[in-house]
Parts: sequence; structure tokens; C-alpha cells
Amino acid sequence: MSGNVPVPSKLLQEAYRPEGFQAQGQIVLERLTRYLSEAARGSIPVLSSFDPQLLRDAFQSSLQPGSGSLADQLEAVLAAAHHLHHPGFYCAQVVPVLPLCAWCEAVVALLNNSSAVFEMGPVSAALESLLVDWLAERIGYPPGSAGGALTNGGSLGNLTGLLAARQAMAGYDCWEEGMRENLRPTVLVSEQAHYCVRRAAQVMGWGSRGATSVAVDEHFRMSRQSLEVAYRQALDQGLTPLAVSASACTTSTGAYDPLEVAADFCHRYGLWLHVDGAHGASVLLSQRYRDRVRGIERADSVAWDLHKTMAMPLTTTAILFRRKDDCYRTFKQKADYLFGEGDEEPWYQGALRTLECSKRNMGLSAWMALQLYGEEFFRDYIDFTHDLAGAFATRVRACHDFELLVEPQSNIVCFRYLPPGHGGDLDALQQRLRGLVNRSGEASIGTARLNGQLYLRAVFMSPLTGIEQAERLLSLIRELACP
Ligand SMILES: Cc1ncc(COP(=O)(O)O)c(C=O)c1O
Repeated sequence: MSGNVPVPSKLLQEAYRPEGFQAQGQIVLERLTRYLSEAARGSIPVLSSFDPQLLRDAFQSSLQPGSGSLADQLEAVLAAAHHLHHPGFYCAQVVPVLPLCAWCEAVVALLNNSSAVFEMGPVSAALESLLVDWLAERIGYPPGSAGGALTNGGSLGNLTGLLAARQAMAGYDCWEEGMRENLRPTVLVSEQAHYCVRRAAQVMGWGSRGATSVAVDEHFRMSRQSLEVAYRQALDQGLTPLAVSASACTTSTGAYDPLEVAADFCHRYGLWLHVDGAHGASVLLSQRYRDRVRGIERADSVAWDLHKTMAMPLTTTAILFRRKDDCYRTFKQKADYLFGEGDEEPWYQGALRTLECSKRNMGLSAWMALQLYGEEFFRDYIDFTHDLAGAFATRVRACHDFELLVEPQSNIVCFRYLPPGHGGDLDALQQRLRGLVNRSGEASIGTARLNGQLYLRAVFMSPLTGIEQAERLLSLIRELACP
């Protein structure tokens, strides 16, 4: 080691200069403000990039380490991105983020306070705890007895809920002992559930039989009978059902499993009830739509994404437990250097309740939104997007050349274009139309395979979309089908 006093290089000094930060901020602020208004007006194409390799190559060839310009790079990023604030964006369950959140995320990045433990991120810990309490109260969990954490996305949220189910229902301390050879657990889950629930069972080492499929009815919901059939099937195969994972709602069609039925079923057989509310638990904040999740307060755990139908940035998921002890039982860990000796279950040590150690301050955006706009913001957002989906479905039903798959229960609508006299492959037609719509620049749309057929799928996520744009989607499809 030399005796010289280390001095930060000129580069380091320049990179950390507050004046430089301000100048960069002005470039980004000015450009993003213009971007937001262009996207919201629909004056840029909804989707911009279709060829992964071409895009990668373009970025690679523009790489100029050390001499790139912020303005140019920002331009390249905006040009290649999908534009979620465009009123024609219907292709995925990602939100046009509440613009306020962009500033909150800048604050989060600059402060960079982790939320594993209080010492590393006091604000993160306090806000996370308050948000968890707020959401738990909306579920209807008894005040003071519920608990939970924020985590990175619905997949992790569902895994965490099912880890808790395993620990609570296995009949021994499997966190400590590992899986016993003679126990072959399974979770009963709708055949329409998001794949991450099956993946969670496989991550836990339960294999593919760790998730037993429950059939759905014509509305794509599990029923008492189908739960019963799946339960018997699992027993016949020598499996031990530990839990039911109900969807609120499903990904493809937005169907809500009947939670009261699932809760009664779990009560009868002594099973854990987990609710995958990643997409749709937020209806709890709407007087108009909250009946969709009647019975949710009886769930042992609920995963709830704020980055889906609450307009928050990726990824902000709450995993909530009816009994707060369950969130600590899931990840019992001794790490004296972090949590301190004897620190058993303090609410402000977030890492005791999640898979993550380092974690961004995920709660700031939701906290600020709540502070500035109140719960009404979320209520209005949910009411509007769900009303719009309903109005769109009504238009689809009224058209002789479109078929509505099912009445939407959420903000997701599945439908098909059936041009009169078309004798060809209707699935191929929907697939072709999806490609044409997405390259039109006017709108973007997805597909889902249901009842063996391919459907177009529109998700109404935006308060910037009006009924006229939704109607335009139908006429656009007609025009593209018959150029
Ligand atoms: C019902 C449902 N559950 C879970 C997930 C997974 O959530 P994430 O993408 O946040 O991991 C999704 C994603 O679309 C979903 O629709």
C-alpha cells in the first residue's frame, strides 16, 4: 500500500457534481415531458421494436464508452421502447405509470436506501410497513393481527405465500428439516392460473405434481365441484394437498375464482387458502367492483401487485398474511450481523419477511400517490379501466362480425374477428391480425388460446384511452383484415 493520499479522479469528481446532475435532469425532464404528451396524443407509434437481434445490434453499434451523449442515448431508448401512455396500448398487463412515480423513482435511485433492515433504509422500512397495513386493512384482515412485506413481482409474491403455506401445513418444521421423503405435497390451482404458481411448487421441490390442476367452468372459474374432483384425484395419486391457490383474477380472461367457495372448501379440508391477486386484488379499492373478491378476508395469504391495476411502476408487489406470524415463520433466519441478536420479530426488519436482502424502496411511489391524490386515485383508475373494458365488450357483442368470448369480469376482454363468409383458418386469421395491428402504430393487442381456439386479447390499463379509441380498435381490425 502506498502512503499517498487517494484523491478521486477528475472523472469521479465530475460524475458526482450536483451542477452536472441538474443539467442532466433538465435534459431528461424536458424530453420526457414532450414524450409524455406525444404518447398520450398518440402521435408516436404504440410499439416500436419487433426484431430483437436488430435492436441489440443497433444499440451495440452505437456504443461509444465515455463519449456518448445523454440526449442522444435518451432519444434512442425512447425510439425503441413500447409506449404505454399511447391510448392504443392494450397488449399487456403493464400500466402507463402515474407520471408522479417517475420523480419518486428518481428519489429512490438517488437515495439508494435498501430496505432489508432499518439501519440501511429507515424510510423504506417505515413506508413499507404502513403500506402493508393499509392494504391488509382493505382486504378486511383484523387490525393489528395481519402482516406482510413488499417484494419484487407477483411471481415472488406467490412463491412467498406458498412457502408460508408449506411451513404452516406440512405438519413439521420443513424450513428447518427440509422435505421428508414420504410427504408429496401439492397445491390445488385453476388450470387457468398464471404459470408462476406451478413454478412456485416446482421451486419448492414438489415437482410437476406439486400443482394439481382444477378444471374451470364456462366462465373460466374454479367451482366447488371441480375443487372436489381435483382434491380426490390428488389423494388417489398419493399426494397431500396442502393449499388452494385461487386466482383473483386469471391472466388470460380476467376471471375471478369464487373466493367464498374456495374458503369454505379450505375450511372443510384443513387447507391453506392463498389468493393470487396479482392482477385483480386492487378491486378492493373500488365500491363498484369489490364484490369480485368477496371472501378474500378469509384467505391465509394474498399476493397483490401494485404495478398491475394500481398504475405503480414495476415491480411493487405486496404479500399479505392474515396472521403476521406466518410471514416470519416462512424465512426464519439467523443473521446476527444484520438483524442483531435477540431481534426476533421486529416489524422494521423487512428481510425477515422476504426472499430478498437488498431491495429498493418499493413503497415510495404508492405512498406519494396516496398522499397527493388520496385513495380516490386508485378507485377512479380501477373504475374507469374496468368500465371501459365493459363498454368495449358491449360494442364487440353488438358487432355481427366479432365474437366475445365471455362477459369480462375485469379489465381484460377476449374476442375474435369472424368476417362473414370466411372459410379459412380462423386461428391463423387472429394471429395475422395481431401482427398487423401491432405494426400499424395505432394500437397493440395480444392473443390467448382458450377452449382450443385463438382469441384476440385487449387489456384496458390506461386512463388515457377513451371509448372512441376502443371503438377504433374494432374498425382498425376490419380494415387490416380486408386491405
Ligand atoms: C394472475 C397473475 N399472477 C401472477 C403474475 C406474475 O406477476 P409478475 O409478472 O409481477 O411476476 C401475473 C402476471 O401477469 C398474473 O397475471
